[in-house]
Amino acid sequence: MTDQGVTEPGDDLPGKPTFASRTTLSHIMTASDTNLLGTVHGGVIMKLVDDAAGAVAGRHSGGPAVTASMDEMAFLEPVRVGDLVHVSAQCNWTGRSSMEIGVRVMAERWNESTPAQQVGSAYLVFAAVDEDGRPRFVPPVIPETEKDRRRYQEAQIRRTHRLARRRAIKELREQRVAEGLED
Ligand SMILES: CC(C)(COP(=O)(O)OP(=O)(O)OC[C@H]1O[C@@H](n2cnc3c(N)ncnc32)[C@H](O)[C@@H]1OP(=O)(O)O)[C@@H](O)C(=O)NCCC(=O)NCCS
Repeated sequence: MTDQGVTEPGDDLPGKPTFASRTTLSHIMTASDTNLLGTVHGGVIMKLVDDAAGAVAGRHSGGPAVTASMDEMAFLEPVRVGDLVHVSAQCNWTGRSSMEIGVRVMAERWNESTPAQQVGSAYLVFAAVDEDGRPRFVPPVIPETEKDRRRYQEAQIRRTHRLARRRAIKELREQRVAEGLED
């Protein structure tokens, strides 16, 4: 382990291009996927998002990876029974042991011959882990297109905000404990 808890070695892992682990998972929605309104339950879409992102994280890091967080999950349009849903995921950014995976959810309507419509999107952070569940180094992702480079830069902004938010909440909780305040 390093002083920051990541299993060594790995500092000099060769980079991998974004396209190498890009993945699309497709699924036809069925009646068992619905909520009380008869449209597809958000949790069903989130499971597909986590599955697709997990496949990318495993492929990019070359081994097991666990979901550390999911944020900015947006549901833009309802999905209906019979719709063909495509969940496309790619590695936007890599840290030492973590990867931000961006996911886009598209739906082809079962009764229309129109182009697939975007119905959702999400960003997930996966941590690559060793057989003991400890974080391990990941290969740096190499963004190759302008779109990949933009996504990399935006992922860095999200990373900065996630860390700042976690730190601020941790400090607040420590301060409340120090002041003897209980929930
Ligand atoms: C994710 C996990 C491996 C992190 O372990 P840890 O001991 O906290 O290790 P670290 O603090 O070194 O974090 C490892 C990396 O994950 C990132 N990370 C950890 N928690 C995070 C969070 N909540 N959001 C975003 N990133 C996170 C860290 O920033 C670090 O990134 P870096 O190595 O690229 O700098 C650990 O919390 C875990 O196993 N969680 C359960 C995961 C799981 O079971 N998911 C499935 C849900 S059922």
